[in-house]
Amino acid sequence: MRFVKAKDYNDMSRKAANIISAQVILRPDCVLGLATGSSPVGLYQCLIEWYEKGDLDFSGVTSVNLDEYRGLPHDNPQSYYYFMNDHLFSHINTDPAKTHVPDGMIADAGEACSQYDETIRSTGGVDLQLLGMGHNGHIGFNEPDEEFAKGTHCVDLAQSTIDANSRFFASREEVPTQAYTMGIQTIMAAKKILVVVSGADKADIVEKAFFGPITPHVPASILQLHADVTVVGDEAAFAKIA
Ligand code: F6R
Repeated sequence: MRFVKAKDYNDMSRKAANIISAQVILRPDCVLGLATGSSPVGLYQCLIEWYEKGDLDFSGVTSVNLDEYRGLPHDNPQSYYYFMNDHLFSHINTDPAKTHVPDGMIADAGEACSQYDETIRSTGGVDLQLLGMGHNGHIGFNEPDEEFAKGTHCVDLAQSTIDANSRFFASREEVPTQAYTMGIQTIMAAKKILVVVSGADKADIVEKAFFGPITPHVPASILQLHADVTVVGDEAAFAKIA
C-alpha cells in the first residue's frame, strides 16, 4: 500500500483528484468506481474545475458507484444518485448512459443486486476504484461482519453508520436502514484502488484497517491484500501511522 500524506482536506482532495485525472488522461475510456460521502466532495470539485479549464474530458469515461440507499428515489436529495449528479455528473461531460448507480427503487433485493452485478460486468471491469472509509472500517456499505461479501448485496446498515448519516436527514426516522452495495470481491477486482480519508476521527480506523489484522470485522483491512492501493489522507487522519 502507498500512503500519501496531505496537509489538510483541500490538499488531500487535490492530490486524489490528480490521481483520478491522470487515469482519465492516460485512458480516456476508463471505468471509474466512484463513492459518495463527505470525503470525495473536494476532489470532485477539483475535477469539475479542471474540466471547466479544458484540462479533462470525461466523454469516454464509464462510472459505477459503490452503493445506494434502498427505497430512496432518484429525486430524493439524500439519494446517492442525486448526490452524484449534484456533486459531479451535472457539472462535467460524462455520458449519462455510462454513469451507473445501483437502483434503490428496485424493491426486489435479489433482482436489484444481480442487475447491478451485470452492469459492472458489462463495463469490462473497474480501472480505478475510489473509496472513502467509515469509522468502523466499512467500504461501500460493506459493514463489519463474520465474512467478506462477494457481489452486490442488500445490507442492514450498522447503527453507527445510521447515526453518522443522520446529519444529512431532517430526522433520525428518515435515515434509511438498508442499502444496496457493491461487494468486497468486486471492489478487490478493481485494477487500482484510491482511498481518501481526512480528519482526526478517522485516525484510529486508518491504523486498524491498514496496519491491523485482516478481518471481515474491519472490512477495509482486506485492502492490504490488493496489489495497487493508494491511501491519500490528511495529517489528522494519518496521526497514528506517521
Ligand atoms: C459512500 C460509501 C461509504 C463512505 C463512508 C465514509 O459511497 O460507500 O463507504 O465512503 O461512509 O463516508 P465519509 O466520506 O462521509 O466519511
